[in-house]
Amino acid sequence: MACCHADFALVEGSDRGFTLGMPTFTFGAGVLAEAGANAAELGIRRAALFTDRYLAAGEHVAKVKAALAESHVDVVMYDEVQIEPTDRSLQQAALFAREARVDGYVSVGGGSVMDTCKAANLYATHPAQFMTFVNAPIGAGQRVPGVLKPHIACPTTCGTGSETTGIAIFTLSSLNAKTGILSRRLIPTVALVDPDVTKSLPANVVASTGFDCMSHALESVTARLWPRRLNPAQGIARPVSQGANPFSDALAAQALDSVGKYLVRAVRDAADIEARTEMMYAAMLAGIAFNAAGCHLPHGLSYAVSGLTRDWHVAGYPEGKSLVPHGMAVVLNNPSVWRHTAPAHPERHLRCAQCLGADLRDASSDDAGEVLAGRVIELMRATGMPNGLAALGFDDTQLDALATGAEPQYRVIRNAPVDIGRDELKRLYRAALTYW
Ligand SMILES: [Fe+2]
Repeated sequence: MACCHADFALVEGSDRGFTLGMPTFTFGAGVLAEAGANAAELGIRRAALFTDRYLAAGEHVAKVKAALAESHVDVVMYDEVQIEPTDRSLQQAALFAREARVDGYVSVGGGSVMDTCKAANLYATHPAQFMTFVNAPIGAGQRVPGVLKPHIACPTTCGTGSETTGIAIFTLSSLNAKTGILSRRLIPTVALVDPDVTKSLPANVVASTGFDCMSHALESVTARLWPRRLNPAQGIARPVSQGANPFSDALAAQALDSVGKYLVRAVRDAADIEARTEMMYAAMLAGIAFNAAGCHLPHGLSYAVSGLTRDWHVAGYPEGKSLVPHGMAVVLNNPSVWRHTAPAHPERHLRCAQCLGADLRDASSDDAGEVLAGRVIELMRATGMPNGLAALGFDDTQLDALATGAEPQYRVIRNAPVDIGRDELKRLYRAALTYW
C-alpha cells in the first residue's frame, strides 16, 4: 500500500505535525533469553516481574527469570495481575510496586499483564490519586509529569501489541466501562518479542488475538486523518492517538498483508511456525501503528459487547466466568463498521481489503465497504468466529443497552472518519447481529 500523502494535506486548524513513540524492540525466536542483559544495560538491579497466575509457573516466566538471574538482577514477582484489569486491580499492583522498591519492571504476559505493569510503574514512580492520569472526561487526564522507570515488556500472545503502546486499558468499576491511561511515557522501554511463545497457544487464542491485530491495523488506516483531528493539542501536549498518518499506514499495510496470508494457517496448525511467527510480527507492527493513529469504532463498540454478554465461554481461555475474548468482541463489529465508514474514504478501505487478500478486479469505490466486510467475514468463517452478535445472545431488544454501553467510549468513537451519534450506534449494532 503506497502512502496516501495527498490525504494528509493540512487544513485550517490542523496540528502542524504528528508524533510517534515506540520502544526499542528485539524480534526473534529465543530473545526472551536476552531479558537479563537488557535489564543490566538499563541499570536495573532489582526488578518487579509482572505476570498472571496462569503463566507464573510456565516456561516463559522461567526463561525470563533465569536470564535475569544470570545477569544478577534481583526479582520480586507479582503474579496477581487480573485478566481484564480494573481500577482496583491496578491500584493493588501499584501498591505492590511502591512497596517493592525496585528500579525497573519486567512484564511477561498478554495485554492485561503489560497494561497492569505500565500502570503500576506510573503510580509507583509518580504517586497520585488514581483518577489523575485517567482519560478525560472520565478522569482528570493530566499529563504524566516525568519519565517512568525502565520497563521490559515480553508479550506471550500475538495480538494486543501492548508491548509497543503507551496505553493501559482497564474497567472503571464505578461506571462498569472500559477506559484507559494514555501517555507516551507509558511505552515500554524495551520490547522482547519472541515468536517461540506462540507454539503453545490454543487455536482460539491465536484467532482472537489475530483479529485484534487485524482490527488495530484496519482502524489505524481508516481513522480520521491526523490533519483533521478535532481541537488539536500540539507540541508536547499532543495526544498519543492522533489519527491516520503515513507512518501508521505503512506498518498497518504490512500487518494486514500478514494477516491475510497467515492468520488462518496460524489458527489451524500450532506446528506452523512460519505462520505463527508472521502473526507475532504483524501484531507488533499493528501495535506501533494504532498507538499513533488510535482505534475507533470496532474497539469503541466492543466493550459494551463484552460487558453485556452473559454466559459465553471459549475453549483456551480461563474457565469459570463468562468471557468474550477482546479480539472476538472487536471483530464481531468489523463488517458492520466497514460498510458504514467506507464512503468516507473508499480508497483506504479498498486498499485494506487488497492487503488482506481480497480480489479487487471488479471493485469500484462504491463497493469498498462490501469488499472489505466480505474479506473479513471470509476470515471469520475460516477461523470459527461466531456469526455476529446474535450468536452471543443479542437481539433487537438490546440495541439501546448496547448503545448506552458504548457511549463512554466517545474518546475512541470520535476518531472514526464519520460522525457517530446514538442512532448510528444502534444501527451499527443491528447490522452486526448476523453476517451469514
Ligand atoms: Fe485491541
